[in-house]
Amino acid sequence: MAPRLLRPVGCGSAAVLGLLTVVVFVLVLIPAKDAVLPTRIKYGLVFDAGSTHTSLYIYRWPADKENDTGIVSQVEACPVAGPGISSYADDPAGAGAGLKPCLDRAMKIVPAEQQRETPTYLGATAGMRLLREENSTKAEQVLAEVSKAIGEYPMDFRGARILTGSEEGSFGWITVNYLLETLVKFSFAEKWEHPQDTEVLGALDLGGASTQITFQPGVPVEDRNTSVFFRLYGTNYSLYSHSYLCYGQNQALKMLLAALHQASSSAQISHPCYPQGYQETTTVAELYDSPCAFSGFYHILHFLNLTGGQSLSLVNATIRKICNSSWKQLQELFPTVSRTQIRDACTASSYTLTLLLQGYKFNITTWPNIHFIRQVANADVGWTLGYMLNLTNMIPSEPPTALTELPRSIWIAATVLLATMLILSFCLLTAMCCQRNSSGYDQL
Ligand SMILES: *[C@@H]1O[C@H](CO)[C@@H](O)[C@H](O)[C@H]1NC(C)=O
Ligand SMILES: *[C@@H]1O[C@H](CO)[C@@H](O)[C@H](O)[C@H]1NC(C)=O
Ligand SMILES: *[C@@H]1O[C@H](CO)[C@@H](O)[C@H](O)[C@H]1NC(C)=O
Ligand SMILES: *[C@@H]1O[C@H](CO)[C@@H](O)[C@H](O)[C@H]1NC(C)=O
Ligand SMILES: *[C@@H]1O[C@H](CO)[C@@H](O)[C@H](O)[C@H]1NC(C)=O
Repeated sequence: MAPRLLRPVGCGSAAVLGLLTVVVFVLVLIPAKDAVLPTRIKYGLVFDAGSTHTSLYIYRWPADKENDTGIVSQVEACPVAGPGISSYADDPAGAGAGLKPCLDRAMKIVPAEQQRETPTYLGATAGMRLLREENSTKAEQVLAEVSKAIGEYPMDFRGARILTGSEEGSFGWITVNYLLETLVKFSFAEKWEHPQDTEVLGALDLGGASTQITFQPGVPVEDRNTSVFFRLYGTNYSLYSHSYLCYGQNQALKMLLAALHQASSSAQISHPCYPQGYQETTTVAELYDSPCAFSGFYHILHFLNLTGGQSLSLVNATIRKICNSSWKQLQELFPTVSRTQIRDACTASSYTLTLLLQGYKFNITTWPNIHFIRQVANADVGWTLGYMLNLTNMIPSEPPTALTELPRSIWIAATVLLATMLILSFCLLTAMCCQRNSSGYDQL
């Protein structure tokens, strides 16, 4: 009788064991998959609507941030075809239509399930600041049209706006310092830390319609128009940032032409960049070390191969040579360069040098401190990265602990269960063996 009785017991325990195994597998395998999930990546899009052209920058950062600020990297820069949005003052709809190819590109990069939560911004700079001064209705129409175009895409569009000059300057400053690792650095201890012995760097930006200078002054800035405050990666920064409207490379050349025109005739030119004349730029070069000069400063001098730490006397000599060359000589010197670039080579480079020396007061001793940069670690140096970085402060964090805490408790439960199961099955097997053995003896 005993062996027949034993069989149902064996079957029952096998079923219990099987069930336990399934439970343990469900408990162990499913959370295990969650626990090793990489940190979620968030995306953000920023349109840089400059005076001469527009670009869309696609950024990403891990959802768990460092002291509330994201570690942002550039995924891609998409250049929008055509001129800057301020050129569409008389055809606002055209400004919106131009953005579509880049928005389509972004749709391919940002995973479909994340598009609705991807913050998207459009920031316009000096070109639109000028248009707003000329005719604010037209500026609003252009912004409305670009907003309409972006709004047709399934993104979390947070609006199109005109940045102030000091915002533009200070976001450029953030970009420079972030990329050159003076704000945050991945340490040997394999974590992000505030670098201890590094000084922040100044930032010099030259756009088409304005130029910006931004640095951290030793003393608090009294003038509220030029003082900016940021809290990034848990550290406070108080900056001085000044933007000189009309001193961008294109507007400056227009101002020069207008001045010549006005000198030779009595015609009155009505343009916000004229007749207010030249503003006094501040003497600041000695207030900060090693500024980084980017955008126009880089492009114009790079064209003449002068961004590699050349001395001021060599820079002067090269520009003088360019300005004294004939059209034919210049074409031979720059065979692959467009005619407009050759035409403007002398004026643009002379203007850039004058701005640095007369405007920002660099001299033969401080000149070698200027670093000319365009890109660092595959990210373009401009205001957009700094803008995105500061905005990650407002985007809710997803700390990794929230993801691992639940699986950890399940892991413990699963381990306990597994141990219980092993002990149980061991006991059962022992019991079965003993019973079989004893029943065997019984039968003898
Ligand atoms: C500004 O632009 C609007 C729309 O194009 C036009 O109706 C208006 O007359 C302009 N205003 C000025 C002061 O030029
Ligand atoms: C976050 O703040 C702490 C305390 O202020 C600091 O030690 C740490 O370096 C900061 N982390 C980063 C990434 O800056
Ligand atoms: C600050 O900006 C406002 C508006 O643009 C202007 O009226 C004011 O004079 C500026 N203040 C200083 C100290 O430059
Ligand atoms: C940084 O700024 C915040 C305000 O945003 C302030 O509460 C905090 O005390 C400041 N920290 C330091 C060290 O100055
Ligand atoms: C930077 O981001 C904060 C939000 O964290 C925002 O309040 C502040 O206005 C931003 N700074 C600038 C200059 O836009």
